[in-house]
Amino acid sequence: AHIKFDSSKLTAFVNDHELAEIQPMVQAADQELRQKTGAGHDFLGFVDLPVNYDQAEFARIKQAAAKIQQDSAVFVCIGIGGSYLGARAAIDFLSSSFYNIHNERQVPEVYFCGNSISPNYLADLLAVIGERDFSINIISKSGTTTEPSIAFRVLKAKLVEKYGAEAAKKRIYATTDRAKGALKSEADAEGYEEFVVPDDIGGRFSVLSAVGLLPIAVAGIDVDQLMQGAADARSAYAQADVQQNDAYRYAALRNILYRKGYTIELLENYEPNLQYFGEWWKQLAGESEGKDQKGIFPASANFSTDLHSLGQYIQEGRRMLMETVLMIDQPRHDVEIPQEADNLDGLQYLEGKTMDYVNKRAYEGVVLAHTDGGVPVMSLHLPQQDAYTLGYTIYFFEIAIGVSGYLNGVNPFNQPGVEAYKKNMFALLGKPGFEKLGQELNQRL
Ligand code: PA5
Repeated sequence: AHIKFDSSKLTAFVNDHELAEIQPMVQAADQELRQKTGAGHDFLGFVDLPVNYDQAEFARIKQAAAKIQQDSAVFVCIGIGGSYLGARAAIDFLSSSFYNIHNERQVPEVYFCGNSISPNYLADLLAVIGERDFSINIISKSGTTTEPSIAFRVLKAKLVEKYGAEAAKKRIYATTDRAKGALKSEADAEGYEEFVVPDDIGGRFSVLSAVGLLPIAVAGIDVDQLMQGAADARSAYAQADVQQNDAYRYAALRNILYRKGYTIELLENYEPNLQYFGEWWKQLAGESEGKDQKGIFPASANFSTDLHSLGQYIQEGRRMLMETVLMIDQPRHDVEIPQEADNLDGLQYLEGKTMDYVNKRAYEGVVLAHTDGGVPVMSLHLPQQDAYTLGYTIYFFEIAIGVSGYLNGVNPFNQPGVEAYKKNMFALLGKPGFEKLGQELNQRL
């Protein structure tokens, strides 16, 4: 079974003719994407990546993962944004809820860092590693991003202290540009094993490249299945017709809704291991679409947890929200609600039912309540929580967001706005070349 997009609850919000009206625009967006005639066409490598990737490197990723599994108790992934979120989302999605303390796969603990500038976090991580064997994957396309660069220095110093300079180099895996950047130069000079972020793949579209694949493989996940799922999705979402192509129908509907004032989209789940999938999606959607003073604002929520916090707002607050629910049809486990002699807690009516049964009724109840409250709700049903389905789902959103950006008239594949804070930070830190801006900013502070 494949993933299934359900837009049947939108009847009160979108008329059938609206989909028909947007079809020619979807057609045009699809052409821009497939024929590489649209803005940002240098970054369309993700479209064919599931069937067009470096097989030799793919094999090397598996070998490196096997080596790391053998010689490391802890694996540290250093990266931020597109060089972080995909691997984190995939490993969380496909692993035990407590994988670093209880892992059925007998693989190294996996920790992520370099995704903040928090000294607390890094100091705590060093303590967690302790005296144990560990390896590092430093992931940075540009090779110059401040957060991962700082974390790398700190972790590298610990490696050198523990193993000595030469042996430390054998425990560092660098995923970066094939030709340029500080990390590339360092990796060449020091002889780290290198993996490539392809030129035509932007950070937020890179999870199925070495960026995501090495950490995912180290976590014991079947990367062949992951790629196969994405490859099958590529075939399934190859038509421009929104009635045939679920990913494009999703893209079209969220644009129709956006134009009616539903300017915020909440991606929701009912499984805590999907929380980071939401984080990955927020970068994918937000960085692709939020520009030129427009775009859907992507947010996420984890249910039923957030029904007890955000639920009130969603039900009755300002009417600008639309929802897309990720629903796992068959969770990795199910738990039966046990019998009790008395009915002191009032739960007798659920005895013998499973938690998944309750979760599904919660979902159905919420969909109807929110629909009645004036919130358009779409759902994406994922048959299982496995690598194949995840690959399929990743591709669904990547292709949908690409088309969605074109539908709203932006370049979905650049991110000029990410630079603004960086320039200021460099100036305030006194980085060479930023002296004048530094003076100006310091006067304003
Ligand atoms: O999508 C993007 O461009 C960003 O989120 C980057 O992925 C992030 O800034 C990390 O960049 P880099 O991989 O160059 O270190």
